[in-house]
Amino acid sequence: MVYVDAILAHTCLPVFYANGVLIHQRVATFDLAKTNMSRRTFLKSSIATATFSNLFAATRIKAAGAAVAKVGIGDAFQRDFLLGTAINSKTLDDNEQNLLDLINQEFSSVTAENCQKWAEIHPEDAVWNWATSDRFIEFATAHKKHVLGHTLVWHSQIPDSVFKGLDGQLLSAAELRKKMEYHINTIVDRYRGKVDTWDVVNEVVSDDGYDSWRNSYWYQIMGDSFMEHAFRTTHAADPKAELLYNDYNMHDPAKRAFLVDVFKDYLDRDVPIHGVGFQAHYALDEPKIEEVEKSIEAFSELGLAIHITELDVDVLPQAFDYMGAEISASFEYSDELNPYPVALPAELEDQLAQRYESLFRLFLKHRDSIKRVTLWGTGDAQSWKNDWPVVGRTNYPLLFDRSLRPKAAYQRVLKLKS
Ligand code: XIL
Repeated sequence: MVYVDAILAHTCLPVFYANGVLIHQRVATFDLAKTNMSRRTFLKSSIATATFSNLFAATRIKAAGAAVAKVGIGDAFQRDFLLGTAINSKTLDDNEQNLLDLINQEFSSVTAENCQKWAEIHPEDAVWNWATSDRFIEFATAHKKHVLGHTLVWHSQIPDSVFKGLDGQLLSAAELRKKMEYHINTIVDRYRGKVDTWDVVNEVVSDDGYDSWRNSYWYQIMGDSFMEHAFRTTHAADPKAELLYNDYNMHDPAKRAFLVDVFKDYLDRDVPIHGVGFQAHYALDEPKIEEVEKSIEAFSELGLAIHITELDVDVLPQAFDYMGAEISASFEYSDELNPYPVALPAELEDQLAQRYESLFRLFLKHRDSIKRVTLWGTGDAQSWKNDWPVVGRTNYPLLFDRSLRPKAAYQRVLKLKS
């Protein structure tokens, strides 16, 4: 039984206005099982038929005696794409209620920031840490969010012991393939029907020129077949899940060309890949919107869905000449690299808002190809950009400030829908 949130079932529900602001009620229940519709199809069709205007204006309205659904920025974009955020382990483990309520109100999709990564969930061959990930799935299920599983096969945040025997030597391809299958099958099986979309493979392209395979242990041991095998194994474990490849710098022309070739080959041979994730860890002036657009077009022309998976906008001075998001990169702290420890100057706040506006304009232009836009976190205080690639800075990359108040960037993005 699914409770149809009034936001989704908007067309068939009473709509009220209070002081000129639209409000609506959570009034309907709906037995999804009777419709033959998958949860995903249901969400899409509800979204497609919804008529709404100023929906987001209802955010904090409460009507006496009625259970009023709060709505947020995710609702404003519901006919365009899912709007998501990443939830970190602390928020889930400490049950940070304010933040969880805000996430529930503002976003329609959720990703676990760390708790489903190999090193966290499966730190040793026979050890599984399910608690935080289960909490994540429970939160998402309870609030009917689109759920992203992140991430199954990656060279980072994975123990070295996955790739090595007790003698310290690298495993054979057959041995590693078995480990991969065990890992994928165990997680995907546990969350079958609950995770809508999996980031199956992360970041396989070399940072050196972006035109060859990254020389990871995966690649060294299994060759490039490791990626195809990950997709096939995940698909076999949950044939209904949507499967993505996810990477940073997807706008880069060399990376684009390299991956377009890989995916063309996959699609020709029926390797089950359904979409690509653009991490979109961006700066104020880089990358150029045109380059992002070329990649959206190139991948969607192949028939792949586009997901913007980890959007944030770094406002601090660039520590070194590197635009990627390889998490092992690091640079020493200095005060010059941390110029706004107390507050972001108004001028930069405005530049950030403009940057978000341009990005969302682009996403709206390509709303037919873009299925989801996910921010890599909710409030600035939680962002990984405070500690990457320089530890201990004060960054301002997201839509909500350190007190979880919506920033100018939030308002500018929202205004695109008014
Ligand atoms: C980051 C997390 O945000 C950090 O908390 C963690 O310390 C390192 O990883 N690309 C990805 C994400 O796919 O999983 C990474 O997340 C950021 C880069």
